[in-house]
Amino acid sequence: MSDQVLVTDVGPRDGLQNQPRILSVGERLRLIGAITAAGVTSVEVGSFVSPKAVPAMAGTDAVVAALPSDGPVHYTALIPNLKGYELARSAGARSVTMVLYASEGMARKNVNMTMAEAEAATAAILAAARADGIEVIAAISVAFACPVDGPTDPGLVRTVAARFLALGADQVVLADTIGAGNPQQVRNLTAELVREHGAARLGCHFHDTRALGLANVYAALESGIRRFDASIAGLGGCPFAPGASGNVATEDVAMMLEQMGFATGIDLDALLRASDLAEELTGTAPGGRSKPWLKPWLAKRSVSLTKHDTTRRKE
Ligand code: COA
Ligand code: ZN
Repeated sequence: MSDQVLVTDVGPRDGLQNQPRILSVGERLRLIGAITAAGVTSVEVGSFVSPKAVPAMAGTDAVVAALPSDGPVHYTALIPNLKGYELARSAGARSVTMVLYASEGMARKNVNMTMAEAEAATAAILAAARADGIEVIAAISVAFACPVDGPTDPGLVRTVAARFLALGADQVVLADTIGAGNPQQVRNLTAELVREHGAARLGCHFHDTRALGLANVYAALESGIRRFDASIAGLGGCPFAPGASGNVATEDVAMMLEQMGFATGIDLDALLRASDLAEELTGTAPGGRSKPWLKPWLAKRSVSLTKHDTTRRKE
C-alpha cells in the first residue's frame, strides 16, 4: 500500500456552512489560500446550494471564479442537485462533489429528495460531467448512521458505492455526517470496499462528534484507504443533521499521518497558521487538539517530526 495520503480540507465548505459568522468571499479566499500555502493540495471550497438554505455558502461562484484553473491544487465544490451542477459548471468548477444518501430520512431533510432521486440526479450529472470534462466525486452521506433513521445498513452503502464506481465516479467518499461510526464498523466497511474495488477511488470523511475521528481515520488507513477529508481547526457540521459537530481537524490528521511515516506534503507550521486564521475569521475552533502541543514543539525543531518517533510502515 502507498505511503502517500491525500488530505482534502473541507473547512471552507463543511466548516463554514454552519458558522454563525458568515465570511465574505475575500475572507473565504484568504482561508483557502492559507490552507493551500501549507501544502494541502485538495480543498473543498464551497457549495452550490440554495442561499436561502445555507446563507454562508452564497457567493461560491465568486470563490470558484477567483481560484486558479490550473496548478497543483485540486479544488472541488459540493452540489446537491443538477441545478448545483449547472451553477458550478458556469462558475468554472473543474470538480464537483455530489451528495448521495444512505437513508431516506437524510435525503428528505437535506435536499427534499428520495434516495432514488438523488441517485438519478447523480447519474445524470455523471453523464453531463463526462461531456464537460468535469470530475465528479460522489459522497455517500450518513454512511454509518442517520440522525433521522438510525443505524445505516453497510450493505446498502456497498451497493451505492459499487453503483457509482461502476458509473464512473472519479471518487466515492464514505461520509460519516454526524460522527456516529466506530473504528470497528469503519474497518469492516472499508476493508470490504477495498477488497471489492481497490482503494484508489475510495475516500473517507469523518466528523469528530464523539472523539472517534482519528480512530476512524486510522481504521480506514488499516484497510488501505489513502484519501481523507478533514477540516482546518476542526470546523464543521451540517445544518440539516442534528448532532453533527466538527470534522476531524486537518492538523490532527496531518500530525498523526506524518508521525506514522505517511507522506502528506503538508507543512505543519504553515498549517497551524491556517488554523489560526480559521479561528480568527470564525471566532471558533472546535477541534485541532494537536495545536497547543505542536506549536512549541515545532518552534524548537530540535528533532524532525518524521525522523523521531516514527515506525515506518511496511505494508
Ligand atoms: N443552488 C441554488 N439554488 C437552488 C439550487 C442550487 N443547487 N437548487 C434549487 N435551488 C433553488 C430553486 O431555484 C428555487 O429557487 P426559488 O425559490 O427562487 O424559485 C429554490 O431553490 C427551491 O427549489 P426546489 O427545487 O423547490 O428545492 P427545495 O426547496 O426542495 O430545496 C435544495 C432543495 C437542495 C435547493 C435546498 O434544500 C438546499 O440547497 N439545501 C442545501 C443542503 C446543504 O447544503 N446541506 C449541507 C451539505 S450536505
Ligand atoms: Zn461533513
